[in-house]
Amino acid sequence: MPRTLIVSNRLPTKVQRTDDGLTFQPSEGGLATGLGSIYRQGDNLWIGWPGLFVHDEPEEEHIRTQLKADNMAPVFLTENEIRDYYEGFSNSTLWPTFHYFSELATYEQSHWEAYVAVNEKFCAAVLAQAGPEDTIWVHDYQLLLLPEMLRKARPEAAIGFFLHIPFPSQELIRVLPWRNELLRGMLGADLIGFHTFGYLRHFLSAVSHLLGLSAQNGQIDTPTRSVRVDAFPMGIDYERYAQAAASAATRAHMDEYKEALRDTRIILSIDRLDYTKGIAQRLRAFDSLLQRYPEWRGQVSLVMLVVPSRDQVAQYATLKEEIDNLVGRINSQYRTIGWNPILYFYRSLPLEELAALYRLAEVALVTPMRDGMNLVAKEFIASKLDQRGVLILSERAGAARELSDALLINPTDINQLVEAMHEALVMPEDEQIARMTAMQALVKRYNVFSWTKLFMNQLAYTKIKQHTLATE
Ligand code: F6P
Repeated sequence: MPRTLIVSNRLPTKVQRTDDGLTFQPSEGGLATGLGSIYRQGDNLWIGWPGLFVHDEPEEEHIRTQLKADNMAPVFLTENEIRDYYEGFSNSTLWPTFHYFSELATYEQSHWEAYVAVNEKFCAAVLAQAGPEDTIWVHDYQLLLLPEMLRKARPEAAIGFFLHIPFPSQELIRVLPWRNELLRGMLGADLIGFHTFGYLRHFLSAVSHLLGLSAQNGQIDTPTRSVRVDAFPMGIDYERYAQAAASAATRAHMDEYKEALRDTRIILSIDRLDYTKGIAQRLRAFDSLLQRYPEWRGQVSLVMLVVPSRDQVAQYATLKEEIDNLVGRINSQYRTIGWNPILYFYRSLPLEELAALYRLAEVALVTPMRDGMNLVAKEFIASKLDQRGVLILSERAGAARELSDALLINPTDINQLVEAMHEALVMPEDEQIARMTAMQALVKRYNVFSWTKLFMNQLAYTKIKQHTLATE
């Protein structure tokens, strides 16, 4: 029976070492939920890093057995591999380049070598599991070389690849010393998916300029095979957020927060700590709002949740300091005994607490400098049971291509951001409801389950077409 193997850098389960031994916690991420309908079925499998460094073989075996029971197979990585492949090439070379922060990118040969070696390690792990008929779906920028490595070993296999971050203009890609190897790596897949048509167009242009390959009607012809490319905007598990928002636990949190905030109006911002998210720019804009519209002082608070991330990478640590300083300065300037301008949390929160914040917030500020999609925007929408609330969304997030009823802003234009916050705070209720209702219909329909189905169907169709052409 053919199976589907999902491959990503991280597994959807996080294994942690505690005083009481190892713990296995399911990841709450959107990808894990969306692909749950695939990898949990039958003998299907998810292959990836379990998130910790193993001490010895018995521990490795224990983790392997536990994960196997839940249709997962671990790829164990060493501390050096995480330093050079994950923190190094993935997050200090590819991540800044693909998000238009080339000035932050480093180009270390040793990081590249580790990236190749870890992609090979993943390749061996997949080949140890995959039968000739199995479908393999590779995810994201940490594994750009894997499709080609798999293709060499399994010329006939059905291989899909999805990029979860932006694909930038070829002018940025061409800066990378290893650009051709990376593009060829991706082209090992039969189907390559992006969040938007814009990213897809950039990819086609890179492939044509740098590899000299022609691309027409969503198809790239390589000397040996043709590869399909398409846009698949990723969605969320809408019902999960809508149900969490309606739960008694969420209502209890809302009552508690309302009492503590004494009916202060809330602007909400939720992100992983990352320079791509525009967190510092957002803080400066909030500062300007309080300057330009003093009537909001004492009336509106910015609730800002920053989820710790990649803290071993230098730029992330610097950004953390910048945010701490900005929050400290703004709060000390405007705070009164009864009012805090910014309520800043540096941690992650459980779903019901998040849902309470989504429901209470009158405005959500989703203003990244660059973002592949941004699912927080969609989670905010799904949680708005009364359709009241305004989404301010960066035009440089993939989600902006779908959510045209948000207030779309250019995140570097602080003036525009200030005016958008003011406009959101005074927006009549009927306009809020009209915009939110339209966005809810879209986010509900194009959810993570339809996203998964669409990609898998398209991959199956691509294989059938290849087969028909080969036998004609
Ligand atoms: O947005 C790309 C992505 O890899 C997501 O898939 C993931 O949730 C996020 O970045 C954080 O990734 P990590 O903590 O594994 O570096």
